[in-house]
Amino acid sequence: MGLVIICGGFFGDEGKGKIAGYLALRDKPEIAVRTGSVNAGHTAVYNNKRFKFRLLPVAALNNYSRLLLPAGCLIRLDVLFKELELTNSKDRLGIDRQAGVIESRHVEMEKRDAIMKGIGSTMQGVGAAMADRVMRRLRIARDVSELKPFITDVAIEVNEALNKGLNVMIEGTQGLFLSLYHGTYPFVTSRDTSASAILSEVGIGPKKVDEIILVLKSYVTRVGSGPLPDELSEEEANRRGLVEIATVTGRRRRIALFNIELAKRAVIINSATQVAITKLDILFREAAGKKHWSDLPLEARKWIEDLEDELGVPITLIGTGEDVYDTIDLRHDKLGP
Ligand code: IMP
Ligand code: MG
Repeated sequence: MGLVIICGGFFGDEGKGKIAGYLALRDKPEIAVRTGSVNAGHTAVYNNKRFKFRLLPVAALNNYSRLLLPAGCLIRLDVLFKELELTNSKDRLGIDRQAGVIESRHVEMEKRDAIMKGIGSTMQGVGAAMADRVMRRLRIARDVSELKPFITDVAIEVNEALNKGLNVMIEGTQGLFLSLYHGTYPFVTSRDTSASAILSEVGIGPKKVDEIILVLKSYVTRVGSGPLPDELSEEEANRRGLVEIATVTGRRRRIALFNIELAKRAVIINSATQVAITKLDILFREAAGKKHWSDLPLEARKWIEDLEDELGVPITLIGTGEDVYDTIDLRHDKLGP
């Protein structure tokens, strides 16, 4: 495994949480890092329970991995302590001393801001805290007494682990087209969401990376405002059974069919080495719950094969249901042992 990055190729909500959950349970990396902040919700269904993470790595589910929040992330104390309690994972957590801390005034600032309203921000205070960080007035983790027990140097921990040959999984948040630099500006989030930015948030150089798994859903969704090519009307989305509710805000997600142009661009900009396709069962109902390639309906297999040809990157993981183990894992077949 070495160093694996999970990143999103559309507008967030591609199913990174499900893929991260599968890899956390299947591969048991020694270290799992979660970048980004509380505006991004990662959902994993495991043992008939639905876990929604806004700060902790989804690997909090596995009772094994060391859990790290890096210098580039932004923490909200209430969210953090709730998730720690829910997963009983306090003894495994490390927080970089330079991680940022969101305060209630950041949420208030966003609620008063017309631009944030206009772009359909999740209003979690993330952008306002980021602005404060740029102005050098954000509180950081080392100065917050509640975080003292967890303080560490994440960049050094991760680099040393990699030098020892341990496995590290980094969970990116959101998707390429919400990137502050590469997305549909100004309808974007407050950070770059590409694989390079994920590395930078943690403090790892690009030559340390082994695999970059780009997660794409079998259709496209977007919450908030901004362009969405070939958006379906609500009626059409209903008719096709494509209805989703956002994890953090509870808003209905806007829906479009799979977009090959966006997918190709996301492969390029993230230098993806593997692609994970989620929710194949929504596109092909008979794919539901399948765990082997040979059990997939023919038309679903053809869809995946054609897509793989177009993207020029192996499709190694396929999601066929909500549970983290509703996954077809082709890594061994396509990449070798
Ligand atoms: P903000 O980052 O909360 O200010 O939101 C800015 C834009 O990014 C809005 O359109 C949000 O809906 C969108 N956004 C931010 N985080 C996520 C996410 O994790 N999933 C999907 N959309 C997101
Ligand atoms: Mg989400």
